[in-house]
Amino acid sequence: MSNENPTGKVARDAAQGTEQARKVLVTGGGGYIGSHTVLSLYAAGYQPILVDNWSNSNPVVLDRLETLSGMRPMHYKLDLRDAAGLNEVFTNNEIDSVIHFAGLKAVGESQHMPLEYYDNNVVGTLNLLSAMRGGACSKIVFSSSATVYGDPESVPITEQASLRATNPYGRTKLMIEEILRDLSASDPQWEIAILRYFNPVGAHASGSLGEDPNGEPNNLVPYIAQVAVGKLKQLSVFGDDYNTADGTGVRDYIHVLDLAQAHLSALEVLVPEHGCKAYNIGTGRGYSVLEVIKAFELASGQTIPFEIKPRRTGDIATCYADVAYSKKALNWQAKFDLQTMMADHWRWQKQNPKGYSE
Ligand code: NAD
Ligand code: UFG
Repeated sequence: MSNENPTGKVARDAAQGTEQARKVLVTGGGGYIGSHTVLSLYAAGYQPILVDNWSNSNPVVLDRLETLSGMRPMHYKLDLRDAAGLNEVFTNNEIDSVIHFAGLKAVGESQHMPLEYYDNNVVGTLNLLSAMRGGACSKIVFSSSATVYGDPESVPITEQASLRATNPYGRTKLMIEEILRDLSASDPQWEIAILRYFNPVGAHASGSLGEDPNGEPNNLVPYIAQVAVGKLKQLSVFGDDYNTADGTGVRDYIHVLDLAQAHLSALEVLVPEHGCKAYNIGTGRGYSVLEVIKAFELASGQTIPFEIKPRRTGDIATCYADVAYSKKALNWQAKFDLQTMMADHWRWQKQNPKGYSE
């Protein structure tokens, strides 16, 4: 474990008034959603403390966060499977609550490396929860996924829909959800919010924070963005024979800044005896692959060449959220529309054609 605590920087932050702020441990805080949430935490007056092993992110993000927030984030280079290191973090800091993003997230990769996924995601989470118990911290917001609904019986999907993951990645999310429900049932002191994200896209409006996938992107919008910037030649559209309006897959895309805000709302609703609750985090509206391509073309002024290819194994036709419960219970609602998501994603990609590795 290493803790970059550059001389003067954290002291300066404290002098700026963060000393009294609630400390929120952000696992995976260097990643795509984590980094945007760190920024939102600063804006709301919290003091984020990052833990990341940088396995799928780049420490350059710390410089970007410092530029945007005026604060150098306090951070630990630490793998969640390092139980002793994690315990030390809780011993050395008065952590109020945890937002737990750290995890591996590629569906295809999880099918080839199931043991690595169970180890990283499930063992990492068990260590985290044990360290929290040791450090007397009982508030956690967990990054789950709409993937726990599998192929839904109907849309929009409510939180009551049956849960059935269809791949190792999804099963790690489901297992962690079950662990959290068991923990909550065992001790009412735990305050747990499970956020089931639909399809996060977009980037900070400055264009200096965004999604930087390793290798060829698996997801639609990062792939389109790399075609638009000239890094990839053309998009494959996986199937145009689904039972949807234009035959292509329909998803509930949500701006990463709306997603970040949902974490802040979740932190606010965590109170003792709250128990363990799951919330859908989406916009409640679905867009097809062809609609997304069109919106990106409009935002970027670029033509996105594409070819219709066979369906991707494991894909479903349509997935979008019923957001009535999260709207009411979290007092939260997505604000950004598809066009803004695409414009912000494009700004990030255009300004950082090679992601953070320039
Ligand atoms: P990301 O890969 O950008 O961020 C995850 C971060 O966790 C990375 O910085 C990585 O280095 C770190 N990490 C991974 N394993 C770690 C470990 N064992 N110890 C310490 N750090 C570790 O991913 P993201 O898109 O920001 O996703 C964040 C969370 O949200 C993940 O749990 C993911 O499964 C979940 N989620 C993401 C999506 C999506 O489409 N992006 C959708 C649903 C759920
Ligand atoms: N698609 C293409 N071409 C591509 C990539 C995707 O046509 O190159 C299509 C897919 O077939 C699907 C839609 O674009 O119809 C969205 O695909 P993504 O891969 O972007 O997103 P998924 O909904 O398949 O999966 C994502 C995450 C999962 C998560 C799920 C639900 O990758 O981890 O959302 O949250 F579980």
